[in-house]
Amino acid sequence: MRAGSFSEFALRKIAMATDTAELAQLLDGLSKPQKRISPKYFYDQRGSQLFEQITQLPEYYLTNTELGIMRDHIAEIVACIGKQASLIEFGSGSSLKTRILLEQLSELAAYVPVDISSEHLHASAALIRDEFPQIDVLPVVADFTQQFQLPTPMVMPLRNIVYFPGSTIGNFEHDEAIELLRVMRHASGENGALLIGVDLQKDPAIIESAYNDSAGVTAKFNLNVLQHLNRDYGANFDVSTFTHSANYDQAEGRVVIELISRANQMFAIGDTEFDIASGEAILTEYSHKYTLDGFAKMAKMAGFTVAKVWTDAADLFSVQYCVRS
Ligand code: AVJ
Repeated sequence: MRAGSFSEFALRKIAMATDTAELAQLLDGLSKPQKRISPKYFYDQRGSQLFEQITQLPEYYLTNTELGIMRDHIAEIVACIGKQASLIEFGSGSSLKTRILLEQLSELAAYVPVDISSEHLHASAALIRDEFPQIDVLPVVADFTQQFQLPTPMVMPLRNIVYFPGSTIGNFEHDEAIELLRVMRHASGENGALLIGVDLQKDPAIIESAYNDSAGVTAKFNLNVLQHLNRDYGANFDVSTFTHSANYDQAEGRVVIELISRANQMFAIGDTEFDIASGEAILTEYSHKYTLDGFAKMAKMAGFTVAKVWTDAADLFSVQYCVRS
């Protein structure tokens, strides 16, 4: 269909090559002195569901604050986007915030949600289609940190708007974040723009409780990464011997989210074995928090100029409209 001229055989070969590179990357992360698993492995079906639950926790201020900012400033945001744009959402999840946009963007050329979790993506794309039958919804299953092919909408868009809500940019370290912003600049094309949610630095106590919720959902979300690797990547983690940990490093402006081994033990990914000591951590996620100035500098280095910033009354979170410099 929309896969262009690739034969099925060629597509399978591409998928296999991606899997091999992906597996090598996974093994490499666990071979480092500081063991690492990429946060992209959070989002299998259960992980995506747990993340939905996180967004509804009283301690997790990010989602509700961002939704409030979108609602309060929707007219201005929609005016920035303009008519007949293609809205490309990186890491779309359940597309909750997007609904606020789609309700107001009556003449959108297309909505292109991009997500790594295929089941979740297609389920939410189907819901969006039902709710907005006039919008050309073109989901793309992809790891958005790698280059991917954009689909061709039925109506030629006047411009591409990359939408990256949720402060997911915070998962990336400084240089990677700039690299990803460059990918987004590329995807936005000529006269395109970026609409991005950016979490702000604030009282560390507020931040730490957002990642150590009293209901323990974040702990489940973090531990689920091991279950995901056990099921889909031939790993054999004993999940019950790991605990969730999240601490805000104020100097670095980031939450450090880890799984701590409670025993000296071994685990394997397929045939590759690893040792882990009692008390040793596997880093699963950074969640960076920014100053407005700090984010503007990063955007600048990727070729974007921050044209508009909307925040909530307490300056917890920001939504920023960035144009090409
Ligand atoms: C989806 C990356 C924005 O960093 O707050 C929530 C993920 N991790 N709780 C975040 C997350 C633990 C979330 N992002």
